[in-house]
Amino acid sequence: MKKTKGIILAGGKATRLYPITKVVSKQLLPVYNKPMIYYPLSILMLADIRDILIISNSETLPLLKSLLGNGKKLGIKIEYALQEHPNGLAEAFIIGENFIGGDNAALILGDNILYGQGLSDILKRAVCRQNGATVFGYYVRDPQRYGIVEFDQNNKAISIVEKPQNPKSNWAVIGLYFYDNEVSKVAKTIKPSQRGELEITDLNAVYLKEGKLNVELLGRGYTWLDAGTYESLLDSSMFIKTIEERQGIMIACLEEIAFNRGCISKEELLSLSKELSGTYRDYLLALIK
Ligand code: DAU
Repeated sequence: MKKTKGIILAGGKATRLYPITKVVSKQLLPVYNKPMIYYPLSILMLADIRDILIISNSETLPLLKSLLGNGKKLGIKIEYALQEHPNGLAEAFIIGENFIGGDNAALILGDNILYGQGLSDILKRAVCRQNGATVFGYYVRDPQRYGIVEFDQNNKAISIVEKPQNPKSNWAVIGLYFYDNEVSKVAKTIKPSQRGELEITDLNAVYLKEGKLNVELLGRGYTWLDAGTYESLLDSSMFIKTIEERQGIMIACLEEIAFNRGCISKEELLSLSKELSGTYRDYLLALIK
């Protein structure tokens, strides 16, 4: 079985969040008690992906490197690559072509937060699919904002359109995608859209046309948020705070996931906890006990 490598796309200008993001990257903003990028990174780790490429712009890359380093402390491998301009999500597979090499690839957007019971199993299923692509559909109120997938009576995906004015369904494609090794080759055939971007939706449309696009629907039990507006940024923090306070279990605690998945030892977790303070540190210490 081919291994799957992971890419986090964490660039862009985040103008919708100005002035918050005028000098600070969106993906470094706090979502309750962690930097935003912890959430997508946790999803890749839960999918048992250990080789990760983070793509961002020149201002943000040094900050991400100082936050996450080469991943060794978390028992994973993190590399970095530059995206000079936000030319579109599908460009990740052109920038990441050498990184992907002969393997399969997963992409997650640096502002996507995904939570729900049984998520790890769904992720594993996607990783195990060796051919074609897997995307995830999530029912939303405002389909004009997203890539939207349409189904026939047999629940077979028949079209996928980016930000449609007249949406054919309310099923949005979330910012987490799994592809076979053809993805970089396919990405190079995509032409920029009207807004001048290499659209991930156009890439997915190629897989759909070839009958190689699996669409997994995420039902009511899942929460998907993209923290790209003032409201969704605050909603995300409130959501994480509510669950964590009620249950006493952290969401997207990278150190915990690394420990539970056997990427780091007890001693390594202890030494990570020493770099932290307050309730986050207490939480890690309780895991060791
Ligand atoms: O969040 C899911 C949606 O993400 C999908 O439903 C859409 O099909 C997909 O196109 C995308 O839509 P957005 O309008 O949210 O994409 P946006 O341009 O905001 O980019 C998403 C994130 O990726 C954002 O945090 C910035 C970053 N980005 C974006 C582009 C275009 C990059 O790092 N590089 C880029 O070139």
